[in-house]
Amino acid sequence: MVKGMLRDDALQGKTIIVTGGGTGLGRAMSTYFLKLGANVVITSRKLDVLQKAATEMQAETGGRVLALPCDVRNYEEIEAVLQKSVEAFGQVDALLNNAAGNFISPTERLSANAFSTVIDIVLKGSVNCSLALGKYWIANKIAGTILNIITTYAFTGSAYVVPSACAKGGVLSLTRSLAVEWGKHGIRTNAIAPGPFPTKGAWERLLPGEMAQKFDFKNRVPLKRVGEHQELANLAAFLVSDFSGYINGEIITIDGGEWLQGAGQFSALEMVTKDMWDNIEKMTRGAKGS
Ligand code: HXC
Ligand code: NAP
Repeated sequence: MVKGMLRDDALQGKTIIVTGGGTGLGRAMSTYFLKLGANVVITSRKLDVLQKAATEMQAETGGRVLALPCDVRNYEEIEAVLQKSVEAFGQVDALLNNAAGNFISPTERLSANAFSTVIDIVLKGSVNCSLALGKYWIANKIAGTILNIITTYAFTGSAYVVPSACAKGGVLSLTRSLAVEWGKHGIRTNAIAPGPFPTKGAWERLLPGEMAQKFDFKNRVPLKRVGEHQELANLAAFLVSDFSGYINGEIITIDGGEWLQGAGQFSALEMVTKDMWDNIEKMTRGAKGS
């Protein structure tokens, strides 16, 4: 079991808005922020889920959690969240763009609306939140920070999750662009690209039914395991804290080496046995060239 990395007061006095903060990885990161002394505003569409999560997170950490319903596709709803957060906590210091929508499908089976839905949640939602917070930070001279959760297929693209790949690629570009443009205001923008971290939301939509066994992510990762939520929470807490004050425009991968294994042309030689290597070595040492 992985432990918390930062000292107990690392986020003391900071207020952090976490989209999709009531479930999965958003909840895990929010819980750790609370343990480190932050106030956390969790938002998503389902108020009942948020309120239950907020009650449990407060009981677990003793921190202050505000649960506010918000669909990140609607800019006005984000402005309302910002206003209520400022009323409750005085100011907002960080934004974690974590909310996402995704499902697997051959692209030609998708309706135009299905494609747009994922783009609207992931890319437009991250843009909407960043824009609202950026305007507020610049107007109030606050050195805020944005942390975006993308995926490793934002680098490579991926078949069967094409709307998500397009949207996450856009968020990657948003990260680097804003890092440069808003750096002069003291606003840092970074991203994390996680590999597989089991959550109900992702596994139900990406590995439904028997697929979870047939397409076991563990086998795709050089470290032969999936990620622990606390491992991601440690990295996220560092990146929203002042300890990472000179990190700006970075995309940090936390995936046990998964995407590089997929990219390396010879990585599939993992399947070669010792006996086979003995033969191969004879052949390669004997090669004289032409
Ligand atoms: C094809 C689908 C579909 C599916 C929905 N649609 N599900 N098409 N296959 N499985 C179509 C619908 O028919 C509709 O198009 C359009 O998409 C919008 O659907 P709604 O249900 O009305 O949308 P909405 O209620 O807004 O829900 C959004 C959602 C849903 C994305 C479809 O899955 C959701 O709420 N997801 C949030 C949580 C989530 O996805 N978590 C996983 C993140 S994991 P028509 O044309 O019929 O109107 C992740 C991990 C990446 O990103 C990496 C992992 C290793
Ligand atoms: P999850 O639990 O399904 O999280 C998605 C969250 O987004 C939910 O809380 C959902 O809440 C919220 N959301 C969806 N649509 C929204 C909208 N329109 N407005 C506001 N909130 C919305 O899945 P997860 O695995 O924790 O994913 C969290 C993040 O990690 C995502 O960005 C995902 O792409 C990324 N990620 C996950 C993995 C993994 O292995 N799990 C790997 C790489 C990247 P509501 O339904 O209540 O709105």
